[in-house]
Amino acid sequence: MSESVSQIPSGLRYYFGQEAKLRREIEATVMEVFDAHGYEEIATPTIDYYALFERGMGRHEAEKAFKFSDANANLLALRPDVTSTVARAAATIFSDAPRPLRFCYAASVFRQTPASHAQWRRENFQVGSELIGSNTITADIESLTITAEILEKLGLKERACITLNSSEIFNGIAENLKLNETVRQELRMLMDLRAADDLEKFLRDYASAQEAEDFAELVRLSGKEETLKSARKVINNERSVKALDYLENLWCELEKKNLVSLFEFDFSDVAGLDYYTGLTFKTYIEGVGNRVGSGGRYDNLLENFGKAESAIGFVFDLDLLSAVSKKKNNGQQTTDNGQVLTFALAKGRLQETVLELFSKSGIHVSDKELNSRKLSITDEGGLYRFIFVKPSDVPVYVEHGIADCGVVGRDVLLETNADLLQPLDLKVGRCRIAVAAMHGFDAKKNLGAKKNLGMLHVATKHPQIAAKHFGTKGVPVEIIQLSGSVEIAPVLGLADCIVDLVETGRTLEENGLEIVEVIAESTARLVVNRVSYQLKTKAISELITNIKTAETRP
Ligand code: PRP
Repeated sequence: MSESVSQIPSGLRYYFGQEAKLRREIEATVMEVFDAHGYEEIATPTIDYYALFERGMGRHEAEKAFKFSDANANLLALRPDVTSTVARAAATIFSDAPRPLRFCYAASVFRQTPASHAQWRRENFQVGSELIGSNTITADIESLTITAEILEKLGLKERACITLNSSEIFNGIAENLKLNETVRQELRMLMDLRAADDLEKFLRDYASAQEAEDFAELVRLSGKEETLKSARKVINNERSVKALDYLENLWCELEKKNLVSLFEFDFSDVAGLDYYTGLTFKTYIEGVGNRVGSGGRYDNLLENFGKAESAIGFVFDLDLLSAVSKKKNNGQQTTDNGQVLTFALAKGRLQETVLELFSKSGIHVSDKELNSRKLSITDEGGLYRFIFVKPSDVPVYVEHGIADCGVVGRDVLLETNADLLQPLDLKVGRCRIAVAAMHGFDAKKNLGAKKNLGMLHVATKHPQIAAKHFGTKGVPVEIIQLSGSVEIAPVLGLADCIVDLVETGRTLEENGLEIVEVIAESTARLVVNRVSYQLKTKAISELITNIKTAETRP
């Protein structure tokens, strides 16, 4: 072993003492609720055939598994998902058992996730359930009721929100717009990010300007019956309308059970596994930056295992439940009643422009505070706290939920894997991300179809963007990562070209460089933490409205 004995692989960790005890207690509480509803515990193999997960999760998701082969060259995987293994058991071992089947489990899953700031774990302990062989509204209500009961038993119900959607709404829209697979994925990604401005632009190719605007506005919404009503005004294809009707019925059932205070509709929730076929739901709790649980109906999955039948399931992430319970036990609750918004702002050239825009939106910061060297200040109205951090750190604070919102350039978002909502393009801080080189650089020879077979040396502060750009073009490059003053690198012979931001173009010009290719346009984006968006909805939607109004002011 060449690594030091103290070194632990990234994304993995130990649990001990109070934390281990708390995890055990939470697991026991959740499993007791399942047991009371007639769910039988199932323990599935930790290692299984890789092909099983491809079949269950789809190729794209299964690729995140840790794969290896055994002595007989069978391709195996550390379980990246429990549902696939339960589905196989239902179709084989339990094929003759009376339906519906009710299973629950508490088990680790292992995934090689891209290194996002907040979702770094490669082993996640899940507690979850599967209800197989019933496709009724009663089965869906059963899953939602159990989710609510678990939150109640853990003492987390008052601080939680469960969002509802149906995958059929998105499917109906994509079908109606006759989107091919690539375009469909792009639409899905923009909806999931609530990137309303980008979505509106994107939809203009497929719908009228008014339809595009209305639909984009819809993905900013999250709320109760009024959100469903708004959706009905915008969505009118038959397939999606059927799904909206279904959600309305579901809402009535939840009302009868006095549960609606815990639920909301969120039509932007379209990410996740491709196997969902109807209801999907996510659980958010104040105190952690990520969703603590998710679930949905997957009526086509069992067919992949040879027995077509309906199913619905959901999981909670034990680490997140434990983090939020720990905060609750320590009395760390917010005292602001969900009203104060913490903002992470990028220090530097964007700062002044953004504060000016905020000032037009009615958010004023005193000169005394601004001229101080404090890194955290409050606006005059006491409703916004600003923290000033380096641009690349804005997504870190927001993804962890330390800041509810942030303002950051699109370039920074393209460079990180942060999982953030992007509801507003502030249309300020406009610049280009470009490949630039010294005058006389032979772009055709180096970057064209008949490219130089040698290695191109690229200096940049944006290694991910640069690698992706040249990778897509099939140009072999060595990326030289710098922290600033990138333009000097080709002048001194450190690199052949650079990938950098160009705003006025002065820095390039004064150093004898010129743009060779534009990779993307960048403007400042309002980014929001997913949990804050759900739990501070009113404050955030007011903020968005105020900024949008200010943008139109001279
Ligand atoms: C940015 C960028 C370019 C320059 C472009 O650098 O990396 O160097 O601005 O602006 P222009 O087109 O208006 O000349 P920044 O000022 O942030 O400093 P840095 O190079 O030290 O990071």
